[in-house]
Amino acid sequence: MSVPPIPPPVALEPLYQLSDEALSQRIAEAKARLGERCVVLCHHYQREEVYRFADLTGDSLKLARLASQRPEAEFIVFCGVHFMAEVADILSGPHQTAILPDLAAGCSMADMADLVAVEEAWAELGRILDVESQITPVTYVNSTAELKAFCGDHGGTVCTSSNAGKILDWAFAQRPKTLFFPDQHLGRITGFRMGIPQEEMVLWQPGLPLGGLTPEQIRNARMILWNGFCSVHQMFQPAHVEQFRQRLPGVRVIVHPECSFEVCRLADELGSTEFIQKTVRESPPGSRWAIGTELNLVNRLKHEMPDKEIHFLSPMVCMCSTMFRIDLPHLCWSLENLVAGCVIHPIRVPPNVAASAKTALERMLAVV
Ligand code: 13P
Ligand code: SF4
Repeated sequence: MSVPPIPPPVALEPLYQLSDEALSQRIAEAKARLGERCVVLCHHYQREEVYRFADLTGDSLKLARLASQRPEAEFIVFCGVHFMAEVADILSGPHQTAILPDLAAGCSMADMADLVAVEEAWAELGRILDVESQITPVTYVNSTAELKAFCGDHGGTVCTSSNAGKILDWAFAQRPKTLFFPDQHLGRITGFRMGIPQEEMVLWQPGLPLGGLTPEQIRNARMILWNGFCSVHQMFQPAHVEQFRQRLPGVRVIVHPECSFEVCRLADELGSTEFIQKTVRESPPGSRWAIGTELNLVNRLKHEMPDKEIHFLSPMVCMCSTMFRIDLPHLCWSLENLVAGCVIHPIRVPPNVAASAKTALERMLAVV
């Protein structure tokens, strides 16, 4: 039986009237029709019903690499957040289009540092030091393409939660100090693990004169940390770790480095979402884990491994509400419109920004 063509453009609202089963069927059909022309990339925090349609999954570093390794795919449908789709656009070929099924899927941490504020900080630091010879700017991948471009233009680079240590080694080999944005916690725990004393890691508060620091603090600092954080991961508290240790003998605590410095220090294991998944998967049956990262990933691991005791570290729901916006109706909408010849929500980084951001990303990929 021949399948009737899908008339363009497919509207989003009516899709919300359909059951998950009907949407799943339509998504599977649209994917089959697109074949190799389309690849669906999913971050580990993606809700389960969407994650099932992933061709490839990973943490930010893995997904960035994968985005550059599928030249046969005309369309990269990114089930993640905005900065991830930007990276896919920057690293993929000119014949490829990255698509974010819902443009509202942003990252609140990435929004905590913008180009104007970073340029102001750079100019202010320039009143105290020769910034170009003294400071390597390093942006966490959870940032806009403009900030990656800033790093590309100023001899800096990008890091992810899985390579921050090696990238900071590289940064300090270039210049004696780093300006690290936007995540203060990833910066602090990475600096701490490298043996940098607390007093040599200072917090830059955008909006305050000299970031709220004295010239002496800036001259003595090795790391200048931006005052950004993840609102999801900041909900995990040191008391949660203590409570699990008291309640469950032998429990191992594993957290994402976006958690606060105190939580990271108390944990047994620390790493990216891919690292967390791999570590828990490789642990022996009967292992007890308390996991401090986004709820969808923890629930997935719990269901996948009933032979292990897996707990969510916080008594509260810590969910990435922006990532959660990518749901079955949006995925169906994106794919069916592609079948019909309409590209909805392409992510196109302006060429001049993309070129400088690519320089920064390629410096990172050359290190790890
Ligand atoms: P990963 O690179 O570890 O997947 O982290 C991305 C992220 O946004 C975590 O909040
Ligand atoms: Fe951004 Fe936090 Fe969501 Fe990660 S969990 S995408 S850092 S808001």
